[in-house]
Amino acid sequence: MSTATKTLLSGVKPTGRPHVGNYFGAMRQVVELQDEYASFVFLADYHALNFIQNADQMRAQSMGVAMDYLAIGLDPAKVVLFKQSDVSAHTELAWIFDTITTVPYLMRSHAYKDAEAKGHEVSVGTFNYPMLMAADILLYNPDVVPVGADQKQHVEYARDTADKFNRIFGDTFKLPEAIIREDVATVRGTDGRKMSKSYGNTIELFASRDEIANSVMSIVTDSSGDRPKNVYAIHRLLKSEEELEPLYGANTGNYKALKEVLIEDLEFLIAPLRVRREEIATDKASVMNILRAGAEKANERAEKKLKEVKEMIGVK
Ligand code: AMP
Ligand code: TRP
Repeated sequence: MSTATKTLLSGVKPTGRPHVGNYFGAMRQVVELQDEYASFVFLADYHALNFIQNADQMRAQSMGVAMDYLAIGLDPAKVVLFKQSDVSAHTELAWIFDTITTVPYLMRSHAYKDAEAKGHEVSVGTFNYPMLMAADILLYNPDVVPVGADQKQHVEYARDTADKFNRIFGDTFKLPEAIIREDVATVRGTDGRKMSKSYGNTIELFASRDEIANSVMSIVTDSSGDRPKNVYAIHRLLKSEEELEPLYGANTGNYKALKEVLIEDLEFLIAPLRVRREEIATDKASVMNILRAGAEKANERAEKKLKEVKEMIGVK
C-alpha cells in the first residue's frame, strides 16, 4: 500500500460491461489518484443484491468488475481492492446507522424518489441503501470519496450521518469530501443524451474494433451547425481543443472522415485496455487472491473502527 497519509475510498457496482462514460466519469479517477492516497476500493456486491438476484450472475459480475479495474491500471500493490460482502463490518455499522436515521430523511433521497416515481415497489434494501453507503465510507475514515455526479447526495448522507453520530455519542467519524470531476460529470452517448446502458447509446470500454466502429457510425450527426456536435463531444474526451480544431476545421461537413478519425482515436485508447483485460481473464485465480488479500487488510481496518463505535454506543 502507498505511504500516503491521506485516505481515499470508493465503491463500484458490479453492473456488467462498463462503457466509456463510466470510465471517464468515475473509474479513471481512482487509478489517477492511487499514488497520492492510501486507497480502498470495493465492489459493492451487497448493494447490487438489490437488483442482481441470481448467484451465477452475481459471481460473474463481481469478478468482472474487479478485472475491469485491474485492466485500466488499478494497482493492487497500492490499492486495497476487496468485496463489500467480505467485510461484515459494513452491514453491521449500517444497522447502527439505521437506528439513528429517520424515515422522512431517507425519503428525501433522489434514488428513492426516482424509483417511487417510476411506480416501483421499492425494496427495504434500496430504501436503506444510503446508510449502507455511509457505513462503507465512514469505516475507513477517508479524506476523499471520488464518485460520479449522481452520487453526490449519497456522500452528503454519509457526512450528515457522521455528524449526527458524533453529536449523539461523541467524536468518532471524520467527515469525508466527495471528489466530482465536473468536466466529465456527464459523458454524452451516441445520441447526445447522457451515455447510459438504459438508452442503448453507449460505447463499451472493452469494445472490439468492430464494436467501436459500429458505435461511432451510429452517432447521430446534427447537421444544423457546421460541426457534428455529438461526434465532437466524444472526441473531446480523447483530445484537446487545440488538437481537434484543425481537424474539424479542415473537414467541415465531412462527417464520415471525422468519424473515421474518432474510431482510430478510440481504438488507440481501448486496444491496450482490451488486451490487458483478456490477459487478466485467463488468470482468475490471481484475481481471487487479490480480493482475498484485500479483504484481509480491509477487515483489519474496519474491525478497528467498528470496535471504537461499539464502545461509543455502549455495547462493548
Ligand atoms: P452506473 O453504471 O450508471 O451505475 O455508473 C457507475 C459510475 O459511472 C457512477 O459513478 C456514475 O456517476 C458514472 N457514470 C455513469 N454514466 C456516466 C456518464 N454518462 N458520464 C459520466 N459518468 C457516468
Ligand atoms: N452507490 C455507488 C454507485 O451506485 C457505489 C457505492 C457504494 C459507493 N458504496 C460506496 C461509492 C461508497 C463511493 C463510496 O455507483
